[in-house]
Amino acid sequence: MMGLIIFIIWFSLIIGIPFGCFGSYERTLLSVQKQKALFVFGDSLFDPGNNNYINTTTQFQANWSPYGESFFNPPTGRFCDGRIIPDFIAEYAELPLVPSYFEIGKDHFVHGVNFASGGAGCLVETFRGFVIDLKTQLKYFKKVTKDLKNKFGRKKSKQLLYNAVYIFSAGNNDYFNFDATYPKHEYANMVIGNLTSVIKGIYKEGGRKFVILSLGPLGCTPGSRALNFQQGNKSGNCIQQLTTLAKIHNSALPKMLKQLEQKLPGFKYSLFDFFKVASERINNPSKYGFKTSKTACCGTGPFRGIYSCGGKRQIKEYKLCKNVKDYLFFDSGHLTEMVYKQVAELLWNGTVDVIQPYNLKSFFHLPA
Ligand SMILES: *[C@@H]1O[C@H](CO)[C@@H](O)[C@H](O)[C@H]1NC(C)=O
Ligand SMILES: *[C@@H]1O[C@H](CO)[C@@H](O)[C@H](O)[C@H]1NC(C)=O
Ligand SMILES: *[C@@H]1O[C@H](CO)[C@@H](O)[C@H](O)[C@H]1NC(C)=O
Ligand SMILES: *[C@@H]1O[C@H](CO)[C@@H](O)[C@H](O)[C@H]1NC(C)=O
Repeated sequence: MMGLIIFIIWFSLIIGIPFGCFGSYERTLLSVQKQKALFVFGDSLFDPGNNNYINTTTQFQANWSPYGESFFNPPTGRFCDGRIIPDFIAEYAELPLVPSYFEIGKDHFVHGVNFASGGAGCLVETFRGFVIDLKTQLKYFKKVTKDLKNKFGRKKSKQLLYNAVYIFSAGNNDYFNFDATYPKHEYANMVIGNLTSVIKGIYKEGGRKFVILSLGPLGCTPGSRALNFQQGNKSGNCIQQLTTLAKIHNSALPKMLKQLEQKLPGFKYSLFDFFKVASERINNPSKYGFKTSKTACCGTGPFRGIYSCGGKRQIKEYKLCKNVKDYLFFDSGHLTEMVYKQVAELLWNGTVDVIQPYNLKSFFHLPA
């Protein structure tokens, strides 16, 4: 008798799976646990249009032509001519585009959600009132985890959150908005401290796998070069002091991540050297298929470094390049789709010289 029952259970398991004997609700629950998901946090490098939904100014938005035109019609609010880094990562991970937080509706979040906001920093003071700061992004993430729990139950939603990857581009704007009343290192500690709090907050909700981008060479954007030019440095050099701030921040990142790894059981991270990847392309554009790294495709003034692309901000006049593929920078501070694709590929399957200890391809499959 016992043998028969075991046989029936065994037999129904064997035929149950291939013949789809589970109901569709049951199937959803089963798949949710194994679902790959990508949660995105940070600034304009990652913002898919969240700032379209907040009370801000056009300084912090980009949902008009020619933004987006290489891929999206109508424009979405991405600060780029086309797709941005999270779009490519989603593609490589075989996920749908990660939706903006304000567009997830009732159940459109099992593959992850994008909370990033153009202009946001790690400090609440950074462009306060115009952006969704990182702390608020965490608050929105907690709302999503609550919805997940309500929909799938505690155990299954936890499993999804354990397995998910959490990616950050955060800190750039804190240094563009540097408060010089602080000593540089003290300011950087404060920025990193606030980033750490948010990472811990996500860990508390179940997050385990974190990917952090280092900051780019902030003084070498067309916007920075234009500023330098306007302040009398006609050579179009980078603003060294700004890049130095990014370097200070970047050197504190690995220490912070190692400390979290020691303190939080199961915490895993990967650090991507965006500074190196961007600098190599700025210093040697032709090696990577670009004609210029100093001048932006879209903007006005020296190096088209005045932030006027599309004519919807303070300055209405702007110039647009003919062939965006020749350019590293689309506007005064943001890269083109071609660059983001190269960066995303390195995040996905790059080697330890740019991403370690895991690239995203291995990180997604790593058991939490
Ligand atoms: C939006 O911001 C403007 C200017 O800062 C302010 O006057 C207005 O009250 C704000 N509206 C809302 C709904 O917060
Ligand atoms: C976070 O930033 C605030 C300023 O916005 C600062 O007062 C605070 O000390 C920082 N927190 C940490 C943990 O560094
Ligand atoms: C121009 O920039 C370079 C590089 O940052 C610097 O060495 C030089 O002193 C600057 N010149 C002026 C006039 O500011
Ligand atoms: C890395 O991934 C990209 C995107 O999937 C792919 O096109 C490229 O061939 C891969 N490179 C290597 C070395 O596997």
